[in-house]
Amino acid sequence: MTDSTPELRFIPLSADDDDTAGQWLQLMAEAADDVPGSAPPCPVDMIGSLRFAPPATALEDWVALREGQVVGALRTALPNGAPVARVDQLLVHPKLRRRGIGRALFGKARELAAGHGRTVLAGMTVEPLEGGPARDPAPSAFVASLGGVAADGPSGLHQWLDLRRHNPLADGVPALPEGYGLVRWGTVTPDAYAVPVSLLEQSLGAAGAEPEPDQEVETSYARAFETMRVGRGRRAYHTGVVHRASGTLAGYTSISKTTGNPEYALQGMTVVHRAHRGHRLGLLLKLSNLENVLRQEPAVRLLETANAEDNHSMIAVNSAMGFVPQDRWVSWTFPTGPSA
Ligand SMILES: CC(C)(COP(=O)(O)OP(=O)(O)OC[C@H]1O[C@@H](n2cnc3c(N)ncnc32)[C@H](O)[C@@H]1OP(=O)(O)O)[C@@H](O)C(=O)NCCC(=O)NCCS
Repeated sequence: MTDSTPELRFIPLSADDDDTAGQWLQLMAEAADDVPGSAPPCPVDMIGSLRFAPPATALEDWVALREGQVVGALRTALPNGAPVARVDQLLVHPKLRRRGIGRALFGKARELAAGHGRTVLAGMTVEPLEGGPARDPAPSAFVASLGGVAADGPSGLHQWLDLRRHNPLADGVPALPEGYGLVRWGTVTPDAYAVPVSLLEQSLGAAGAEPEPDQEVETSYARAFETMRVGRGRRAYHTGVVHRASGTLAGYTSISKTTGNPEYALQGMTVVHRAHRGHRLGLLLKLSNLENVLRQEPAVRLLETANAEDNHSMIAVNSAMGFVPQDRWVSWTFPTGPSA
């Protein structure tokens, strides 16, 4: 029997290869309806992501070509010093699915992971919530067929706030409790807050002792994150709360957005130090920051956010603002190695 299927070829993807990068953007645009209603990929953001990796992480981007055309894409993320290789993108053109291209891309991911000495390969799929919007069942069937095992620990809950349906600012922003003041900054964290911001992030969920401040390391992480953001053409808006008596940054929240897609924004990190919890500062920070964003980005109408499903307090704050659960982000791990 003659196999008439044209051969698949893998090549590394580079931002400097205009033709291939252009085809990659086109592939993502054509797959934008995989999760209906989500923000379409922003070209500046995506091309920027080929040049600026997240802090302490190396990215390997590859595309699958058939007859010279990009038919699939793979991004493997390699966090420094960790045993894991993470599949951040594994995408097949919607018209070419169920022909083995996904499986071939996965084989490439496994080969790359092994080549970097990684013992765990991990990925993530979007799954529907009971009573929530429908989601494509293909990704979870695909990972199950490859021997993927749902990772231990909570999934991510993905929530959207559609400002056309609900205005969380209808009653304004609640008054600040006595003894606190608000501060704002944009994409680049002022020097004075770079270490406090990093320490607050580190203290997330920590019930025990304060993390040991290592100013150099923490500042460099915050700055590396900003470098990625700026390189991807993203803008960010921050509101922080300062405890006046001690002068410490007690919490902050962040919203960011890409250059394209003026209607979409991402509600990112919100953290309030545990010494300052119980004053509804989380909700206040988020509302105040949203008000600030809408002044400067008036076209924004959809805000998305994700939290661990067991982060009940943040999910409750989001619900109070009108965020609605959309889907669940499930992490998977796969066996690697020659026998896998
Ligand atoms: C998930 C995805 C990559 C699969 O790509 P694909 O090229 O269609 O996958 P393959 O043809 O290699 O399928 C391999 C196996 O996965 C399973 N599978 C894939 N799609 C399926 C579907 N719609 N229903 C049931 N099983 C499915 C089957 O077992 C299939 O083997 P078979 O065709 O011999 O029965 C593709 O649907 C996609 O790009 N989705 C959007 C991006 C995404 O969610 N990626 C997953 C990240 S882990």
